[in-house]
Amino acid sequence: MAFPQHRLRRLRRTDRLREMVAETSLAAHHFIAPLFVKEGLARPVEIEAMPGQLQHTVSSLVEVCGGLAELGVPAVLLFGIPSRKDAEGTGAWDPDGIVQQAFRAVRAELGDRLVLIGDLCLCEYTDHGHCGILRGSAVDNDATLDVYARIAASYAEAGADWVAPSGMMDGQVGAIRRSLDTLGHQDVAVLAYAAKYASAFYGPFRQAAESTPRFGDRRGYQMDPSNVEEALREVRADVEEGADVVMVKPALPYLDVLSRVKAEFGLPTAAYHVSGEYAMLKAAAARGWIDEDLAMFEVLYAIRRAGADLILTYFARAAAERLRRG
Ligand code: PBG
Repeated sequence: MAFPQHRLRRLRRTDRLREMVAETSLAAHHFIAPLFVKEGLARPVEIEAMPGQLQHTVSSLVEVCGGLAELGVPAVLLFGIPSRKDAEGTGAWDPDGIVQQAFRAVRAELGDRLVLIGDLCLCEYTDHGHCGILRGSAVDNDATLDVYARIAASYAEAGADWVAPSGMMDGQVGAIRRSLDTLGHQDVAVLAYAAKYASAFYGPFRQAAESTPRFGDRRGYQMDPSNVEEALREVRADVEEGADVVMVKPALPYLDVLSRVKAEFGLPTAAYHVSGEYAMLKAAAARGWIDEDLAMFEVLYAIRRAGADLILTYFARAAAERLRRG
């Protein structure tokens, strides 16, 4: 037999050939766009650490949502920034809260063309910036669950299709599921931030959402970056409590976790390409150090290849636009 027997380069010679043997697909329907809406804004405000992303008014949010739907992006994840914060984060379940207003406005304009998801947490709503109710300087898990259950009900009432608890309290998916079911919202799904790590890559987000903790950090409730077996336990718990979709967050530093979660559970699986991951690419591209589009697609393919069915990404719009142009 002449050497080499296999010439893998044969199928790499042209775009057509590469397309024919591509193992992973990427399309607008894989993306969920995270968006920020802030109470009391007169006009949208640029987020310095996340170039191209804005804190929206309700009306600019509706407009952006229309554009995303037009591009075939199926869903948005909303974060609200209230004008007033307090120790209990009461703005989060206010029927006229900023996210609730946003859900109603987007629904009125777009009907069922977009799946509306609410990030369910307290850190944007508490004056101390932690994700739950404090007892002393620690977050009280079970007291927080009662509040999460109220927020879920309030989001559902305002028209959310999915709620996405991101606070990493034990039992949060179960508490939310029970609350939704009791109130007749059986069809509202739970996208569980199942394996969410205490990550430095959330830095830009905290500027965007105005949710930096006033003291301490989130390592008492978010996961330690050294662990992967624990991530599987977190996911298992959420699955048993009724999660419809499970998420790993951040994405790139945790592709091993994502891959194992998809392989072990086989559930619809999402990965959150977070603010710091986005900011790094934008910063390097702005200096001409990397090609932004190529790097963006390479990252999105990597996340899909590792097992994500859905990618929460600030690149949703840019990638969908680029895919449309071909
Ligand atoms: C709220 C929440 C955070 C993110 C999503 N939901 C911040 C945090 O946990 O501090 C981060 C998203 C991003 O960085 O893009 N708990």
